[in-house]
Amino acid sequence: MKTETTIQGLAASLNPARAARKIIGFVPTMGNLHEGHLNLVREARKLCDVVVVSIFVNPIQFGPNEDFDSYPRTLEHDQHLLADVGCDIVFAPSVEQMYGNQPRLTNITVGGITNDLCGAQRPGHFDGVAVVVTKLFNIVQPNFAFFGQKDYQQLAVIRQFVRDLNIPLEVIGVPIARAEDGLALSSRNGYLSAENRAIAPTIYQSLKTAEQALQAGASLPDALANIRNTLMQAGFAVDYVEARTPELQPIEVFNQNTVLFIAAKLGATRLIDNLQIKFSES
Ligand code: PAF
Repeated sequence: MKTETTIQGLAASLNPARAARKIIGFVPTMGNLHEGHLNLVREARKLCDVVVVSIFVNPIQFGPNEDFDSYPRTLEHDQHLLADVGCDIVFAPSVEQMYGNQPRLTNITVGGITNDLCGAQRPGHFDGVAVVVTKLFNIVQPNFAFFGQKDYQQLAVIRQFVRDLNIPLEVIGVPIARAEDGLALSSRNGYLSAENRAIAPTIYQSLKTAEQALQAGASLPDALANIRNTLMQAGFAVDYVEARTPELQPIEVFNQNTVLFIAAKLGATRLIDNLQIKFSES
């Protein structure tokens, strides 16, 4: 496995694969890798001849009071993990390599779906994601790009601008990887105290309870209120508990497929999760 830190170096490493028309798979990450990321690489490995993983903590997707400076940078450890799951090339550029020294005058704003859910809480966040992911797509030029469904809204935003801008690649969404107790794997779980780590699985438990209630005929407002109460009683500060269609539109009829979304803080750590509820046709 190679590590490249410059755009030129990456191009030189990828050119032979491009010339040989090999299928290139790409997994963009911010490092501090866990099983969730490694699953993305495993999926890429199944479909592609060459797998590139980027590790770049992207400053422009963090708000002024967010954790950009303290975000864990664990490149060496990440490299070991990636070598074990069959990554071919790690792309780990500096901020200067990605953004240069000239001011950036171009932005990418995906309308509508970015004003909702996490977008409402984190202004500019999805613009920052859209810009860096587009830059990375242009640099790597993959055939397939892999993203986790834990960041459901991010995945929807990326699918949208890929479609809108005719970016020639296929986006693959990979199911959420969970710890044994149900907590969705996230780089931010490492910030949790032992006490809060024990409370954190309440998020997934409350989603599963709501799923059962909804499938048994409970009303959506009641199910959402129950999740909110459960989380508050467990000690969370709830950012939102919402339901949308899989395309992130408002739910209009009772038993249409629905995704439940939670963002909640335990101490200073903000956790997100989601669960797609399917209603059988009857
Ligand atoms: O999901 C992430 O880790 C980041 O938002 C991404 C897609 C790598 C862009 O910086």
